[in-house]
Amino acid sequence: MSVRPALFGAIPGRRVPVFVDDGLLDRLPDVLASVHAHRVCEVVTDRNVDALLGRRVMAALRKGKWRAHKTVLPAGEQIKSARTIRSLHEAWFEQKLDRYTVIVVVGGGTVGDAVGYAAATFLRGLPLWQVPTTIIGQVDSAIGGKVGINHKRGKNLIGAFYQPAGIIIDPQVLESLPPRERRSGLGEVVKYGVIADAGLFRQCERSVNEWISGAESVPTSTLQRCARIKLKMVAADETDRGLRHHLNFGHTLGHALERWGGYRRFKHGEAVAMGMVAAAWMAYKRGDLTESEFKRLEEVCRSLYPRLSTLPDRNSDVTQHLHSDKKRMAGTLRWVLPHGLGRVRVVEDVTPREINGALRYALTLSRR
Ligand SMILES: NC(=O)c1ccc[n+]([C@@H]2O[C@H](COP(=O)([O-])OP(=O)(O)OC[C@H]3O[C@@H](n4cnc5c(N)ncnc54)[C@H](O)[C@@H]3O)[C@@H](O)[C@H]2O)c1
Ligand SMILES: [Zn+2]
Repeated sequence: MSVRPALFGAIPGRRVPVFVDDGLLDRLPDVLASVHAHRVCEVVTDRNVDALLGRRVMAALRKGKWRAHKTVLPAGEQIKSARTIRSLHEAWFEQKLDRYTVIVVVGGGTVGDAVGYAAATFLRGLPLWQVPTTIIGQVDSAIGGKVGINHKRGKNLIGAFYQPAGIIIDPQVLESLPPRERRSGLGEVVKYGVIADAGLFRQCERSVNEWISGAESVPTSTLQRCARIKLKMVAADETDRGLRHHLNFGHTLGHALERWGGYRRFKHGEAVAMGMVAAAWMAYKRGDLTESEFKRLEEVCRSLYPRLSTLPDRNSDVTQHLHSDKKRMAGTLRWVLPHGLGRVRVVEDVTPREINGALRYALTLSRR
């Protein structure tokens, strides 16, 4: 069966094929064989994804005459650790993996990041296929080549830029996602609309609630639209020094909120939704968004807000967590603020007063 990529990531000197289609999971062997002659692979997934898709993936690979072995990791952010990397490497030495063994990571951003980093560093890099099974994975984390693990000093502090040999997006697998995971993933979809695509934003306005409840699936064309934006930004700025920064819209305060919540209270996209409202509030006060644009953005983000009983008592409980982002950026905190809907700009002159006002607004919204 012939399979063709829907998109290409044109990273300088390298083209990353991105295959997008319903049911692609069953055609995994054909997709891999379109790139690799040596039919040996190591599948790595997490416990939840394994229960849903593990057998199907392994059956398809064996049917396609691939020699495939599977490793199942626990689910959750704690697997993004040096311990996971060590144990994967240990197992791969035991299994005598060589540089032609293809690593196929099936799961969300957590396994994608950790296993991607293990693959990047084993024998100086094994061919890696990302098969994302969450919205965050399909529109964001599997694309762009950032892989890594957490350190006790912070999230994603140890890692590398390592482009996969290919990416396989099967939108059908999103059907089993729990609503809260869907809501979190949609935070990133809305983000793409605001930073780069006003039409996508309008689509989110119309359909976000149906997408969260599962009454409607997120259309494949929408996922593809997001993937295309990410690929374009990564192609322009693979190592995150310029345009790629736009992808951080909503993330400056979002990260601080996640840190405040010990990475347990908020799902990533929920914190980003609050961060987007805060950034939009700043833009509105600066005259870069009209009141009507601000209210539209707020309305969409409200659907994505977490349902929480506890929120920070004081702004400073959250703002103290802005500093670790600041340390990464040579001492300056960059904010990505909307400039109309569908465009953003990066500013460095945000004052503590603006931050406090924006945070207060974003938090109050979750109490209403
Ligand atoms: N590398 C990057 O550029 C990048 C970008 C964004 C986020 N990330 C990282 O991604 C991680 C978050 O990703 P995530 O939200 O995908 O988290 P995740 O991988 O933890 O998945 C969320 C939950 O959904 C389950 N799951 C996965 N697929 C499923 C399916 N099809 N049906 C039912 N359940 C399923 C998982 O087992 C898990 O319990 C964070 O660690 C974040 O730092 C990385
Ligand atoms: Zn994000």
